[in-house]
Amino acid sequence: MNLLLLATLCLGTALAIPKFNQTFDAQWHHWKSKHRRLYGTNEEEWRRAVWEKNMKMIELHNGEYSNGKHGFTLEMNAFGDMTNEEFRQVVNGYKHQRHRKGKMFQEPLMLKIPKSVDWREKGYVTPVKNQGQCGSCWAFSASGALEGQMFRNTGVLISLSEQNLIDCSRAEGNQGCNGGLMDYAFQYIKNNKGLDSEESYPYEAKDGTCKYRAEFAVANDTGFVDIPQLEKALMKAVATVGPIAVAMDASHSSFQFYSKGIYFEPNCSSKDLDHGVLVVGYGYEGTDSNKNRYWIVKNSWGPEWGMEGYVLIAKDRDNHCGLATAASYPTVN
Ligand SMILES: *[C@@H]1O[C@H](CO)[C@@H](O)[C@H](O)[C@H]1NC(C)=O
Ligand SMILES: *[C@@H]1O[C@H](CO)[C@@H](O)[C@H](O)[C@H]1NC(C)=O
Ligand SMILES: *[C@@H]1O[C@H](CO)[C@@H](O)[C@H](O)[C@H]1NC(C)=O
Repeated sequence: MNLLLLATLCLGTALAIPKFNQTFDAQWHHWKSKHRRLYGTNEEEWRRAVWEKNMKMIELHNGEYSNGKHGFTLEMNAFGDMTNEEFRQVVNGYKHQRHRKGKMFQEPLMLKIPKSVDWREKGYVTPVKNQGQCGSCWAFSASGALEGQMFRNTGVLISLSEQNLIDCSRAEGNQGCNGGLMDYAFQYIKNNKGLDSEESYPYEAKDGTCKYRAEFAVANDTGFVDIPQLEKALMKAVATVGPIAVAMDASHSSFQFYSKGIYFEPNCSSKDLDHGVLVVGYGYEGTDSNKNRYWIVKNSWGPEWGMEGYVLIAKDRDNHCGLATAASYPTVN
C-alpha cells in the first residue's frame, strides 16, 4: 500500500516536470531558495508557470535592449512569482485624488537652475527601505521628503517612522497598508505636532494601533506645498528645496522587473497614479537632450530592486509616468 502510494506520487512529479522548460530548472530552484519560497504542490506548479512567463518576458525585453529598442534592462527579482495583477495589489498603495489642498509652490524667479542635482551626495537621503507586502509606499515617500527637509534645517539626517504614519494617520484620510497620500501624512505630522524616529517606532509592514510617543519625536512639519503639474516646476522645486514626494504609474511589468537604465514605458500613464516615491535629483546621460534626461527616484522595495533601490525615469518627455502630476513637500520651521 505504502509502496503503491509512493509510486503514484513519484509518477505525479515525473509527469509534472515536462510542462516546464527544463533549461530553467536550476534557476527556479535557486530563485526559490534565495527568496525563501515554500509552496504546496499545487501552488508550486502555477507559481513556476508565472515565474517562467516572467523570465521569458525579461529575456525578450533584454534581447530588444541589445538591439537598441529600449534604454533600460530588466532582471528577475523578488516579484518573480507574481502576476502583474498581484504585483499591483501588493505594492501600489497610492490613492490618487485630483483635488489638492496644499499651498501652491511659488517658482523661484531669475534663478539659474543646475542641469543636474543629486541630493544623495549632500547627505539628504537615508538608505533605501523596504515596504514589504503592505501598500504603504505613501508613508515612505512622505518620510523621505521630511527626512530631507529636516536635514536641510538641522544638518542631521534621522530616519523617520513609516509605521507611525501607517498606524496613526487614519483621521487624515490614510488607510495604512491599503494605501494613502503623502499630503495626508504631512497633514497628520502637523496635527500631531511630531513624528517618531524609525528607531523608536520600527517598521512592521502591517496595520497596527497607534503607538506614537511624543518623547521620541524627531521631526515636525507646518504643512505642505503642492507643485504645479509641470516638469519644469518640479525641476525648480528639486533644485531649490531638496527631495520631493511624487506619485507615479508603477503598474507595468517593465517596472516590476526594472534593472537599470532610463525607464521609459510607452504605456505609462501620467494620470493613473498608483505608487508614491521620492525624487532625489535629476541629470542626463552623455549629451543633454530630452532623450537622455532622467529623474533620480528612490523607491521603497529594498536595495535589491533596480539600481540599488533606485530607478532613473525619463525626464522632459511629456511628464512620463506622471512624476509631476502630484508632487509635494512638507514645510518645516
Ligand atoms: C527553453 O528556454 C530556452 C531559453 O529561453 C529557449 O532557448 C528554448 O527554446 C526553450 N525550450 C522550449 C522547449 O521551449
Ligand atoms: C512641532 O511644532 C509644534 C507647533 O509649532 C510644536 O508645538 C511642537 O512642540 C513641535 N514638536 C516637536 C517634536 O518639536
Ligand atoms: C501596452 O498595452 C497594450 C494593451 O494593454 C498591450 O497589448 C501592449 O503589449 C502594451 N505594450 C507594452 C510595451 O507593454
